Amino acid sequence: MFKIAVAGTGYVGLVAGVCFAEMGHQVKCVDVDEEKVQMMKTGVSPIYEEGLQELMVKNYAAGRLEYTTDYQYAYQDADAIFIGVGTPEKEDGAADLSYIATVARQIAENVEKDCLIVVKSTVPVGTNDKIDQFVKDFKAENVHIEVASNPEFLAQGSAVRNTLEAERIVIGTESKWAEDRLRAIYAPFHLPIVSVNRRSAEMIKYASNDFLALKISYMNDIANLCELVGADVQDVAQGMSFDERIGSKFLNAGIGFGGSCFPKDTKALNYLAEQNNYELKTVRAAIDVNKDQKTKLFNKASNRLITFSGLKVAVLGLTFKPGTDDLREAPSLANVSLLLEQGADIYAYDPVGIDNFSKVFPEGRISKGSITYVGDPKEALEGSNVCFLLTEWGNIKEIMPIEFARLMSTPLVYDGRNIHELEAMEEAGVEYHSIGRNAVIRKVQKVTQEKQGSVEVATSY
Ligand code: UGA
Repeated sequence: MFKIAVAGTGYVGLVAGVCFAEMGHQVKCVDVDEEKVQMMKTGVSPIYEEGLQELMVKNYAAGRLEYTTDYQYAYQDADAIFIGVGTPEKEDGAADLSYIATVARQIAENVEKDCLIVVKSTVPVGTNDKIDQFVKDFKAENVHIEVASNPEFLAQGSAVRNTLEAERIVIGTESKWAEDRLRAIYAPFHLPIVSVNRRSAEMIKYASNDFLALKISYMNDIANLCELVGADVQDVAQGMSFDERIGSKFLNAGIGFGGSCFPKDTKALNYLAEQNNYELKTVRAAIDVNKDQKTKLFNKASNRLITFSGLKVAVLGLTFKPGTDDLREAPSLANVSLLLEQGADIYAYDPVGIDNFSKVFPEGRISKGSITYVGDPKEALEGSNVCFLLTEWGNIKEIMPIEFARLMSTPLVYDGRNIHELEAMEEAGVEYHSIGRNAVIRKVQKVTQEKQGSVEVATSY
């Protein structure tokens, strides 16, 4: 068993620390945020992640897991220190490495025995070489410190499972000593290990994420064409999925990818290419398609209705995907902002995202419209003129077509997640617009505008 310290208790750091403790290692999680550390000591997870809190409580009680703000205490006798601090995106698309640099210096100045620094944060190719040099410049002479890359492949919402049952562990090292130590740390997980050099490990992370982002944008592009030529993107995806070279995952067309990873990592790789005078056309295309995709439904609805002024608009789902309270790059942000500019009175629902969303859009009047948060999706639908389905949470998916027809004043639904069957919505009398599918649209004849009288909706489609 090893003495492990983890710097940063965000998604990457905390989940890694807890899972190392679960595998029997002695773990100290370090964070600068005193309040967060106190909270974790009482057994409360600072992030919403299935199964995490239980493992935190279990391993803390077993004495294998500690939380501290005292980095000196955590680092001085560690066999390995994993860095999981953020690398936010700068204005120009470059990664901000200042948090990593701060931690690297703290480590260098405090370790008292030979130690392996393992970078889990997603960093541009070549960063680990720089950290290695940086650490060597600051460390004491009598200790051996090396840097290894160990990118993280967990997805939010399934982070614990993705770590304990990872499809592969990628390790990037420059010496046998570093490789052996990292292999030994991961031995209790009994998972396949891919051992490469540091730069390749760094690139595997970007290439994997950007490939998946590209796959989604490709399907979104195909979906848009499907609408124009009368094909159905879900049928197309199903037909494609039987080819094992394509696979069935990440073929869902929708309202564009969000989150803290794909948007940031596509821009970062594009930036890296530009810095090397190379035009990474494929990744650039993924970024461009995604930007347009996020407001595709809004634009459709806007053309249909002319204005949202005075309309009650139900927005169901705010987080970038189900299973997380994270709003980073969520399509809801762009859409709500546009709806408010056009004077919509929004009634928004999300099972866990309201707290975070209301920090960006406080309840009440904003811009030309207003926003009200509700604790039940049906309350948002009651008397509404338009509904946007933006995140496929279970209880949002469960709303039956007939309920849209019954509850809404005018049952006009824009679905960014292709949740419903076209026929079922048609039968229920809902005017239903989704992504890449051609519904036979039985149109709602009038959309009542309470403030400006009654407006006939456009009839051609
Ligand atoms: C992603 C990767 O899936 C992880 O492997 C990776 O480790 C992680 O980034 C990271 O770099 O830390 P995550 O951002 O949590 O994980 O979420 P995903 O489940 O990949 O979804 C990303 C976005 O793509 C979501 O907005 C989702 O709605 C969208 N998506 C996903 C689609 O639009 N269609 C699909 O078929 C799949």
